[in-house]
Amino acid sequence: MNLYLAPMEGVTGYLFRNAFHEFFGTGADKYYTPFLTPCPKRAINDKEIAEVLPEHNKSYNLVPQVMTISAEDFNSFKEKLRDFGYEEININLGCPSRTVTSKGKGAGALGDLQRLERFLDGVYKDGDRNISIKTRIGIDYTEEFDRLLDIYNQYPVKELTIHPRLLKELYKGSPHREDFIDALKKAKMPVCYNGDINTPEDYLSLMKLIGENSPCKISGVMMGRGVLQDPALIRKISGMVRDGLSAPEASRQYGAKKEEIIGLLNRLQEVYTEKFSGDIPVLYKMKEIWGHLGQGIYRDNDKLLKKIMKSRSLQEYEGYMRKIVEAE
Ligand SMILES: Cc1cc2nc3c(=O)[nH]c(=O)nc-3n(C[C@H](O)[C@H](O)[C@H](O)COP(=O)(O)O)c2cc1C
Repeated sequence: MNLYLAPMEGVTGYLFRNAFHEFFGTGADKYYTPFLTPCPKRAINDKEIAEVLPEHNKSYNLVPQVMTISAEDFNSFKEKLRDFGYEEININLGCPSRTVTSKGKGAGALGDLQRLERFLDGVYKDGDRNISIKTRIGIDYTEEFDRLLDIYNQYPVKELTIHPRLLKELYKGSPHREDFIDALKKAKMPVCYNGDINTPEDYLSLMKLIGENSPCKISGVMMGRGVLQDPALIRKISGMVRDGLSAPEASRQYGAKKEEIIGLLNRLQEVYTEKFSGDIPVLYKMKEIWGHLGQGIYRDNDKLLKKIMKSRSLQEYEGYMRKIVEAE
């Protein structure tokens, strides 16, 4: 069972990944870049180069994620990524943002199956076995996934990560886990699950559902917001999968320590301070991180969370940050 950190645009860039890996990387098999978008008019741009530069991604396995619906653009971008040494490349067929879907990209690609097939024909035409896909299960109806899976099954997809929500659902409601189980039975490639695994117990209930209903196994679990809510989530689940611990034991043994949380937050603040000019954008980024922590391991600290969110300087923020972490 592989455990992955999900790509999250605006959050899990290389500065975040490095800081996260330093303090909480145990058990994470792969990291994905937020989506990179090839464009016919320009070569890979500076921001994207910074994202994939091997010097910026030294101590972990990184999979660059690409979002396009043009096989030609994908293939030339792929060559650039291969020059940087990347083998696996992931295709984004799940992004629900309107700016993306209106151009037929991300989850928008799931609405025109002929175009999708043409794209995948071009992507896999040389039998490349190192291209993985991350997908939603359709646009409006869960029944759409049958046909989508028939299409994916035609290609040597390295791994299919399924986020079992529809485009129209964005991130709301519960993932359609029964549809995921159906897909798992029919898929010809390794299948990774993604969606709402926020605690070790969530992982166990997914495993129970799979175990009860299917002889098939999943190749991995990808986690996003849950890791932001509890940076030790992957480590805890790894403790269950690899050391055979129960969920409470894994939480006790592998839960986030105060020094680790402070270490992660200080490192993020330090690298964002180097990157941005002025304190305000750094404060904004730190509050964004706290938006997630505040829904997770610090959710019972309403008063201090509010103070963090209202802080007007980094100094003020740091005072409340230490109070909340040290109070736990
Ligand atoms: C802020 C944010 C940015 C995201 N950016 C990407 C992205 O760049 N590529 C992608 O495939 N998915 C992206 N996603 C989706 C996540 O990778 C993941 O599929 C989703 O959050 C569900 O998993 P989770 O419940 O474990 O968070 C993003 C999600 C969020 C909340």
